Amino acid sequence: MGKIAIMGAMPEEIDPLLAKLENVKENGYGANIYYEGSYGSKEVVVAYSKIGKVFAALTATILIEKFGCEKLLFSGVAGAISDDLKIGDLVIADGLCQHDLDITAFGHPYGYVPEGEVCIPTDVNLRNIAKQVAKEKDIKLKEGVIATGDQFVASFERKEWVGKTFKASALEMEGASVAVVCNALNVPFFILRAISDSADMDAGFDFDAFLESSAKVSAEFILEMVGRIEE
Ligand code: ADE
Repeated sequence: MGKIAIMGAMPEEIDPLLAKLENVKENGYGANIYYEGSYGSKEVVVAYSKIGKVFAALTATILIEKFGCEKLLFSGVAGAISDDLKIGDLVIADGLCQHDLDITAFGHPYGYVPEGEVCIPTDVNLRNIAKQVAKEKDIKLKEGVIATGDQFVASFERKEWVGKTFKASALEMEGASVAVVCNALNVPFFILRAISDSADMDAGFDFDAFLESSAKVSAEFILEMVGRIEE
């Protein structure tokens, strides 16, 4: 059985994972710390990247290329776009796009660059494991497009635009860059987010208030999944 990477962007997103990890060994690499350990019979490597697409791409690459992880699960928080997503609700990405990638001046759609894709799909098997956990535990789980950008969105207009342009249900700042890396390196990946705010004018306040509790909801769900991953 190959190693499983579990990453977040912020300490609050991985602390609930580290609390449950056994035989932990800390490795410093690339200006970051990678926690190798076990969860039940599974070997895992946990790290937080720091916020944003560039740091997340770096961490995902290191988890795969340096630590040899063969699957990658991301756990964290997101701003809601869909009205049916409330604070603490879980959403899994069926695909991820970069809402701040814009070469529309050359006639391309938003989120697209030549030889790339607007929306990168996540692994179907991992999504099915998530649905199985949700069903068994009677947890509400929404599936939809998650839009990523190097911006904390706290504007009704921007969130509506992202929602309309990418048919996105939620937005955050790392998922699509992890998707680009895993897709290029053929590593099955999965992105889970619990809602911390609604990306509107209250978003900054709500994010501070709910980061910790929502991050924990996401991390606990991820650990339920890790126990069920087979090959
Ligand atoms: N992550 C959580 N809330 C967010 C927001 N409003 N914008 C970007 N990333 C987020």
